[in-house]
Amino acid sequence: MRIVLIGFMGSGKSTVGRKLAHRLNLPFADLDEVVEQQAGQTISKLFAEQGEKHFRELERKALAEQLNADRFILSTGGGTPCYGSNMQLLLNSGLVVYLDLTAAALASRLIGAKSQRPLLSQFSEEELPAEIERLLEKRLPFYNQAQLQVNAMNLKGQELSRLAQVIQIAWEQQLTRQHFDR
Ligand code: S3P
Repeated sequence: MRIVLIGFMGSGKSTVGRKLAHRLNLPFADLDEVVEQQAGQTISKLFAEQGEKHFRELERKALAEQLNADRFILSTGGGTPCYGSNMQLLLNSGLVVYLDLTAAALASRLIGAKSQRPLLSQFSEEELPAEIERLLEKRLPFYNQAQLQVNAMNLKGQELSRLAQVIQIAWEQQLTRQHFDR
């Protein structure tokens, strides 16, 4: 099973990914952490010292490596599917699950966590909701290509177990479709 979680910053990709990996008995990887380990630097430092373009190159390389494995749940960065041909690569590699949250819900989650996000840290608390709305609007055409779209508002307990079941079924259906398409 190859499962990729996509979604805006603050949508819970890493937390949900870890929990789903446990429920589905799959190895878990967080793309941001992989990039940080490979670069030996935090993402904030990478952005500040080498710029976003360099970060996107490292992100793409780490992504291609991670997608080589046979079994995984991979949490991506919020921008991962929106650059180069990353989304196509993701769709060709596994089942892509979009954790969907409204701009307002994201803003309330991100207000206390913007300092670790170089794309948001320069905005004041007052400016943040509008910036999130603007960036989300730009990214939705990518996020909306996911094979599975999930309301990420309350993904705990039973909801999470249900999501694990839905993912399992969607993965099996995808395999069956690919089998008949051949
Ligand atoms: C980014 C999201 C971050 C990280 C980097 C850029 C983005 O990951 O990859 O700061 O472009 O949305 P999270 O979504 O895990 O915060």
